[in-house]
Amino acid sequence: MIVHLCSKEDFTENSMLEIIHEGHSYLVAKVEEKFYVVDNMCSHEDSELILGCLKDKTIKCSLHGSHFDLETGKALNEPADEPIKAYKTVMKDNNICIEL
Ligand code: FES
Repeated sequence: MIVHLCSKEDFTENSMLEIIHEGHSYLVAKVEEKFYVVDNMCSHEDSELILGCLKDKTIKCSLHGSHFDLETGKALNEPADEPIKAYKTVMKDNNICIEL
């Protein structure tokens, strides 16, 4: 199933937005002209990643500083050791969609 989340026009370079779809919180990020979609919640504790910061193709959690790869969701440093979910992004016209 393809789910529409938002429009490309909503982003500037190196920016991110929280998008809530059917009660689920997604983080959508634009880095170097590419879009990434991951779950907004850190895998370590309950902290929203939208409160962190983008660095290259990673998101840094604001609570304890773990970085996650936006493409794979992999936790790159402790304390988080579990990945976050990363979604396959599909572009449809000007829209950012994911496959569920
Ligand atoms: S809550 Fe994100 S690293 Fe601890």
